[in-house]
Amino acid sequence: MLIVANWKAYVEDLARAKKLVALGKKLARADKVSVVLAPPAPLLSVLSIGRKTGVAFAAQDISATAGGAYTGEGTAQAFAAAGATYALVGHSERRAAGDTDAVVAEKLARALAQDLVPVLCVGEKERDGEGRYLARIREEIVTALEPLELRERARVIIAYEPLWAIGKDASAAISANDLAEMTLYIRKVLAELLSGRNAGRTTVLYGGAVEPENIRGLAADAGVDGFLIGHASADPAVFAAFAKNLAA
Ligand code: PGA
Repeated sequence: MLIVANWKAYVEDLARAKKLVALGKKLARADKVSVVLAPPAPLLSVLSIGRKTGVAFAAQDISATAGGAYTGEGTAQAFAAAGATYALVGHSERRAAGDTDAVVAEKLARALAQDLVPVLCVGEKERDGEGRYLARIREEIVTALEPLELRERARVIIAYEPLWAIGKDASAAISANDLAEMTLYIRKVLAELLSGRNAGRTTVLYGGAVEPENIRGLAADAGVDGFLIGHASADPAVFAAFAKNLAA
């Protein structure tokens, strides 16, 4: 199971960040669990450089530009130099800040060019009765992957994060049944974009109100390969409970 901990801007000091890294290492010792931590950019290199930590690091976002006269941008190459091996791309909070599908596709290409494993976030704002939300998920995946070569498409991790579940608590997360349906649908879309032995192998994650209380149920019944965890991964007391509950 892959656990990606998206600290967002919840973590702002090094002491808490270090505590969370230690907890991440502990979690990574659980059977078949791999852990990727996504700290705010300024903390990432302090935590990751020169260490064999047992956890990997991700950029929460990368620039759509290459290097140059772009004040304030964090390029994929700079994140790779800082020790990141993964990059979130297209998180709904970045899309809300202006990232269009076209920008997301550019970021995806930048990540791949620097050998960062992209975690492409997709998700609908709300569910409607006519299945328009399915068309939106399809569009997000197709516009991002279609410009890529087949072997690049196979490297992309998909994180399904419905906006209506993000930031809430476990009671508002998706049900295991609905998630199982969506996972199947995403794999169907991917099958059209990938070929031969790569079809069916993509890592698919779920994110949105994943908490220590609901992770086991979602892991058992929904067909996902792991989770993208936001607020619950940024609080040491709560994050510690994931290790306990997954081991239990
Ligand atoms: P949440 O966020 O776990 O706080 O709901 C998940 C995400 O936005 O990645």
